[in-house]
Amino acid sequence: MNKAVDPALLHAAEATGSHPGVKMDAYWMPFTANRQFKKAPRLLARAEGMYYWDDQGRQILDGVAGLWCVNAGHARPRIVQAIQQQAAELDYAPPFQMAHPKAFELAERVVQVAPTGMTKVFFTNSGSEAVETALKMALAYHRVRGEGTRTRLIGRERGYHGVNFGGISVGGMVANRKTFASGLPGIDHIRHTHEPARNAFSVGQPVHGAEIADDLERLVALHDASNIAAVIVEPVAGSTGVLVPPVGYLQRLREICTRHGILLIFDEVITGFGRTGQPFATQTFGVMPDMITCAKGITNGCAPMGAVLVRQEIHDAFMTGPEHLIEFFHGYTYSAHPLACAAGIGTLDTYAEEGLLTRAGEMEGYFAAAVHSLKGEPNVIDIRNIGLVGGIELAPLPGEPTKRAFNVFLDLYEKGLLVRTTGDTVALSPPLIIERGQVDQIVDMLRGAIRRAA
Ligand SMILES: Cc1ncc(COP(=O)(O)O)c(C=O)c1O
Repeated sequence: MNKAVDPALLHAAEATGSHPGVKMDAYWMPFTANRQFKKAPRLLARAEGMYYWDDQGRQILDGVAGLWCVNAGHARPRIVQAIQQQAAELDYAPPFQMAHPKAFELAERVVQVAPTGMTKVFFTNSGSEAVETALKMALAYHRVRGEGTRTRLIGRERGYHGVNFGGISVGGMVANRKTFASGLPGIDHIRHTHEPARNAFSVGQPVHGAEIADDLERLVALHDASNIAAVIVEPVAGSTGVLVPPVGYLQRLREICTRHGILLIFDEVITGFGRTGQPFATQTFGVMPDMITCAKGITNGCAPMGAVLVRQEIHDAFMTGPEHLIEFFHGYTYSAHPLACAAGIGTLDTYAEEGLLTRAGEMEGYFAAAVHSLKGEPNVIDIRNIGLVGGIELAPLPGEPTKRAFNVFLDLYEKGLLVRTTGDTVALSPPLIIERGQVDQIVDMLRGAIRRAA
């Protein structure tokens, strides 16, 4: 059992006077070691371009695009202006049986950069909601076509699909699941693709492991395809520590899904909007799913928004029945929120003007060489990369998993670099505007912290 929290501890930050005026009791922080944080808070006050500044005025290089979302860098003028103008012009419009022009405009703009054939966009407010929406769409799609027995949903071990019940059920990160009962019924998981024995220190896609996709055949044999609605995977598994798909793996998964009439959903919440060198990882890997979930980079992180991109024929399957009836009983009060739509349009303008949706591809070679130069540093047991994503996996401290990487994170923050850690992997996903010198700076700082954590 957790020990009771000492209230004095919660006031510690205030008591030190280091963050005057910030009362820290009330806010229960998400995915945070609350007690540790409140003893030594890390408060961000301002951001511009590649940098944050904390509440003490200290500059911090952003090595992770906020949380994999600020792809164009911070405080970009077009996005800021778009949000400001929108707030003054139309603050809110109900999205059920009503709409506003920018919802349509943003959907069109998203389709323009989306993989050819993804022609419909359903807006949500987060990646988690995009996942729930896609899973429900998959069930509804089969049902509307008379295949209502297809109810089973398949995820993958080590997958992350947000934190709602559908997402944690198909997800495969144990800490996100173990506390919350059994989740949705009728879920199963294929094997993850992490095989360090064969693939450690692969530059880009690992060579070995296409056949791991055949694990889906095992589940088809077990449950029968007539009961399986969809498979959801991240093309690059991000939150579990950057697992890049082996060459041929996604193609094989696609083939098996097609053969058995199973929908394939790519969760591109992290990979969407330029992270891997193309607008979507779907394009980078040349494998077409039936639906794509996205969020984060759709608004450059400036307003909450997610979306499900859908193939025309999936959408069209719903468009039967009397025209006055709602075709899909699903949506959110803030679906296609005007501020988020304005932010999204400003974001896509910025990406287009600066060629950011393909910039990760241009930077990939330099970035890969830089992160792989950490091979041989103490306790570095694997390095993985694709586009402008890197994962540096450290050997855990004996008996204290996650602590070594977390120490690196704290150390780097002190030195002025923001990274993200998951397990004992340090993840890098800098804004796509990053320059070579800043790549060098990130890797040099990381090298120092890894040595100090030895
Ligand atoms: C692949 C993937 N899916 C879903 C989510 C959940 O997104 P959100 O936190 O916006 O709900 C994330 C978040 O990191 C993600 O990486």
